[in-house]
Amino acid sequence: MPARLSALKADITTLRVDAVVNAANTRLLGGGGVDGAIHRAAGPQLLQACLALGGCATGDARLTPGFALPAEFVIHTVGPVWHGGDRGEPQLLASCYQRCIEVAAAHGLDNIAFPCISTGVYGFPPDLAAPIAVETVRTVAARYDALEQIVFCCYSDQDLSIYQAILDTPQPLHASA
Ligand code: AR6
Repeated sequence: MPARLSALKADITTLRVDAVVNAANTRLLGGGGVDGAIHRAAGPQLLQACLALGGCATGDARLTPGFALPAEFVIHTVGPVWHGGDRGEPQLLASCYQRCIEVAAAHGLDNIAFPCISTGVYGFPPDLAAPIAVETVRTVAARYDALEQIVFCCYSDQDLSIYQAILDTPQPLHASA
């Protein structure tokens, strides 16, 4: 069975899923936005666990426990900073989604929730980021039977409507993913 993809509007720190994805920075030492919210909700042990990882490259992903979060794990990924789109930003963003799915599958997780990586402080246009997110997740998740549900956790009505429009668009029958 292919993984089910859905979008909702929520604070990602409230979701009871196997893992929430954090839109972090390369140092993995916390920050603002969703990163700050996840660290606040998980508690100080999360920073200790991140310190032990020694950072993460842009486009890669690392797993820690979720500590005080309802989610069992956090998958930290580092999105690209938007510089206009010709510095590999789309490929790096796709790599974030791909690596998170691979890490989730390697740990046998059933369900994960993604925030809209790079579209806050890092400035990636949301309407360009969402199709990359959905297409990458669809393609990569199809390789892993274990993953059952993947949620795109939006923080604004506008982001939610972008995702809903993409997810509602019928897939071509001959899709060769
Ligand atoms: N739940 C779900 N989504 C949220 C939440 C939340 N609690 N809070 C914010 N968002 P951003 P980036 C949305 O800036 O662009 C940090 O300082 C937000 O509305 O958090 O990848 C890191 O340490 C937006 O749609 O991440 C890095 O330095 C999305 O999450 C840098 O920001 C991503 O916005 C990463 O920037």
